[in-house]
Amino acid sequence: ADALKIGIAGLGTVGASLVRIIQQKSNELAVTCGRPITITAVSARDRARDRGIDLSAVTWFDRPEELAEKGEIDVFVELMGGAEGAANISVRTALQRGLHVVTANKALLAYHGVELATIAEEKGSLLNFEAAVAGGIPVIKALRESLTGNSVSRIYGIMNGTCNYILTKMEKEGLSFAECLKEAQRLGYAEADPAFDIEGNDTAHKLSILTTLAFGNQIAADDIYLEGITNISIEDIHAAAELGYRIKLLGVAQRTDTGIEQRVHPTMVPVDSVIAQVDGVTNAVAIESDVLGELLMVGPGAGGNATASSVLGDIADIAKSQPGAQRVPVLGHPAATLEPYRKAQ
Ligand code: HSE
Repeated sequence: ADALKIGIAGLGTVGASLVRIIQQKSNELAVTCGRPITITAVSARDRARDRGIDLSAVTWFDRPEELAEKGEIDVFVELMGGAEGAANISVRTALQRGLHVVTANKALLAYHGVELATIAEEKGSLLNFEAAVAGGIPVIKALRESLTGNSVSRIYGIMNGTCNYILTKMEKEGLSFAECLKEAQRLGYAEADPAFDIEGNDTAHKLSILTTLAFGNQIAADDIYLEGITNISIEDIHAAAELGYRIKLLGVAQRTDTGIEQRVHPTMVPVDSVIAQVDGVTNAVAIESDVLGELLMVGPGAGGNATASSVLGDIADIAKSQPGAQRVPVLGHPAATLEPYRKAQ
């Protein structure tokens, strides 16, 4: 089958991880995706920076708009971030050109998701964004596919890895808020402007996307009661612990008799609840629905590999769905190529 040609805009933590994984696993990906995945073009602000990846065979574009407009690609992968500017223009351009788009950009979707989805639907393009919410947790797939036929009543969880990392480290290691934030930035968890993390906006962006998938309403990222974690002190955390609670930054969306309620704020959760045990950069999303009941998904919420894992899954979905791909292997690998079972010694 023909290779799926992808162009990547943005080579920060997530972009560099994605390139590394695609290059290291190219043989395996060609089989599981039904066709080879080739990175043909990239764009990034700084060409010279050493990212520990080999980009000698790809075409470079300085501006993502040019990559979206002129790149010889099937899929435009947007990993720059930001609701306005280059991300917005280039994703729009790519969709208008009829390309498929994969993005990890929750701010972009929170403010322009409906318009972008409209263009994608008109053009018959795929717009995949699993990595935009809760990093490596497949919550978009759960809502869009697995929960088909369910009516969701409530969705809530820990959706910002940076905040959860800070709250956990303050409690367990007694470090100051500022030190914990610095460490989260060093590990590649935080937003370019970490105010979006600690003031709750990032959680709000993600929640607004989940709300739309869950309830079928227009995206309303600004109609969210918003309170971040900047006022939480070690004393607050200890006081909560004495009462048998942990403090978590939660995003909550639920149906009420009068409409949808969305809120983001620090919440005291009982120490013996599952969500209270979710530590560090880990995220958790709970979905309550009529047919299934309560689903709780827990997993890595931020960082290069966790996010790249979801981006790659989105790319694989496109590779498999396009004409010319080999059939999707029922058991994840073509039945004829399964290796003999080897029992552990
Ligand atoms: N800054 C975000 C977080 C990245 O900490 O969760 C993942 O969306």
